[in-house]
Amino acid sequence: MGGIRLNKPYVFVSRKIPEEALEKLKEVFIVSVWEEDRPVPRERLLEEAKKADGFYIMLTERIDEELLNQAKHLKAISIMAVGYDNINLPLATEKGIVVTHTPGVLSDTTADLTFALLMATARRITEANRYVLEGKWDSWGPMLMAGQDVYGATIGIIGMGRIGEAVAKRAKGFDMKILYHNRKRRIEVEEQLGAEYRSLEDLLKESDFVVLLTPLTPETEKLMGKREFSLMKSSSIFINVSRGATVDEEALYEALVQKNIWAAGLDVFREEPIPMDHPLLTLENVVVLPHIGSASISTRKRMAMMAANGLIDALNGKKPNHMVNP
Ligand code: DGY
Repeated sequence: MGGIRLNKPYVFVSRKIPEEALEKLKEVFIVSVWEEDRPVPRERLLEEAKKADGFYIMLTERIDEELLNQAKHLKAISIMAVGYDNINLPLATEKGIVVTHTPGVLSDTTADLTFALLMATARRITEANRYVLEGKWDSWGPMLMAGQDVYGATIGIIGMGRIGEAVAKRAKGFDMKILYHNRKRRIEVEEQLGAEYRSLEDLLKESDFVVLLTPLTPETEKLMGKREFSLMKSSSIFINVSRGATVDEEALYEALVQKNIWAAGLDVFREEPIPMDHPLLTLENVVVLPHIGSASISTRKRMAMMAANGLIDALNGKKPNHMVNP
């Protein structure tokens, strides 16, 4: 690798990424890509950490103390995601490693998915689809697959960042009452969308749909637990498009089984992919997706390009637009 050091910076890309972004990286770096359609094995990632100047990674790579302590040349990590809870940011910062991510470009796409999941859960779309495909549909019924109304209902958004705001815009179009809970009040969202601030407790008590969009931090880990689910109405629906670890999944399962809440729509899980013997997968009133919040073709291309630009800036000694180090 000594030869590589004398030439251009060496960058490891942990997945096949859209061609335009890869070409851009190749113009300025020596690039190695993990080509397989599954996360790079840990041993290979650790090997790469020893020699790379830059990492271009996904949310599937764990950038922890063990890895960072071996990353003697690493100067920048660019993640093709808005969430970066898989990176030990304090330690990376201590080591002078720039960390950059891809906010903004995925907000509307993720809000679309959030709403799709909310509607699918409320109107039992996946359950109804299975019902037809399994040959169970033998007649129309007055209460067949009857769900919950979305229009005019109260939505409670936990985490009013860019994605939360985009979800609130969609909720306004459905004449929903919009409540939110956030670290900071968002006066402009209150003024523009009529959103009302609530304590977490009041939001949980009042909402028909509780939508979790907060980033995963030590403060938000298991934010939704037994007590929180017990505050929700028995007709209410829980939607999670943030990170699985923000929820106590056992408590969620119990709340669903005990009918303390009506249903849940989940795009994220503590362990991903969710194990096939996970209790949540046995319930009819749970809609599950494989972490596809931002998965539209054009958005993924934009994220890939933004992550490439961030890495190029960082390795050129320029502060990236979306650097997350404090
Ligand atoms: C993110 O960007 O953090 C999403 O979870 C995946 O796009």
